[in-house]
Amino acid sequence: MIAMRILGIETSCDETGIAIYDDEQGLLAHQLYSQVKLHADYGGVVPELASRDHSRKIIPLIRDTLTQANCTSDDLDGIAYTAGPGLVGALLVGASVGRSLAYAWGKPAVAVHHMEGHLLAPMLEENKPAFPFLALLVSGGHTQMVRVDGIGQYQVMGESIDDAAGEAFDKTAKLLGLDYPGGPRLSKMAESGDSARFTFPRPMTNKPGLDFSFSGLKTFAANTIAANAVDGVVDEQTKSDIARAFEDAVVDTLAIKCKRALKESGLKRLVIAGGVSANTHLREQLAVLMKSRGGEVFYPRHEFCADNGAMIAYAGMQRLKAEQTVGLEIGATPRWPMDQLPPV
Ligand code: KG4
Ligand code: ZN
Repeated sequence: MIAMRILGIETSCDETGIAIYDDEQGLLAHQLYSQVKLHADYGGVVPELASRDHSRKIIPLIRDTLTQANCTSDDLDGIAYTAGPGLVGALLVGASVGRSLAYAWGKPAVAVHHMEGHLLAPMLEENKPAFPFLALLVSGGHTQMVRVDGIGQYQVMGESIDDAAGEAFDKTAKLLGLDYPGGPRLSKMAESGDSARFTFPRPMTNKPGLDFSFSGLKTFAANTIAANAVDGVVDEQTKSDIARAFEDAVVDTLAIKCKRALKESGLKRLVIAGGVSANTHLREQLAVLMKSRGGEVFYPRHEFCADNGAMIAYAGMQRLKAEQTVGLEIGATPRWPMDQLPPV
């Protein structure tokens, strides 16, 4: 069999990610341009600014990634781009560039589902999970518990009915006066917090089922902040204690739901992916859980937890090999349920 090589493009939110993946040699090159500074002044992603910045950065980044991989368009067998879910304008930049390059270079184009990218990101590591496994997807836009029997064989067992886990982290961080994106900053702040001072609820854990709800925790944080403010000011230690209580509640809730899903499915392998899977406490708690159950937890390396081009190139390669390519029409699918994906 001749090795195949693919270019992956990610532009669904505020990161321009480009990568080249070879199905024999693995990842050849990857580059990421983060728009975090651009959006920081606004306290969140401004869709219009995101689209414009992707347009500015995408071609130079593709050129640099090809140079880094020491290859040209002739060496590529296909172009994969994130087609959804995400911000429609941002998605259309990657889709337009990806589809047009594929046309100009005479290569097939592959439309990749962003959450499938996250879900398969641990496959880029040496220690990869074998199918079937349970996947906890925790990003800024999604929180989902998925049974994975193979590529494209996804059964969503539960998901958030309101805010995603990452979104709850970011909103609570904002209440604590932290800059966007607040998730990792809140987690840092929680390190010096006292876990015994405040106790936050573990939402939806006393009801059966695998859905999540995190918006109440943000309200609980707002109320705790207000109740502990002196002349409108909350001291640093109190902020850390609140951050700690919030993080403990999210991590605990996710772990309780994982335990429930593992019991229900009988699965022994757990994958965690998406931006929040970079969270140290979450990784630790899930490692303990899996050890106690005689199973194993898998996650992507830190830089591939958040949005990146490598996961899109990997997912795109699986679809390319199955000849699941797209026509010449340029399209993006901002809302795209993962269980609608075809099996490979
Ligand atoms: O997967 P991702 O890059 O983007 C989406 O597809 O949404 O996830 C970004 C999210 C943000 O909400 C960010 O605050 C959160 O992941 N995040 C974290 C940590 N690192 C990133 N949340 C908690 N702890 C972290 N260490
Ligand atoms: Zn993402």
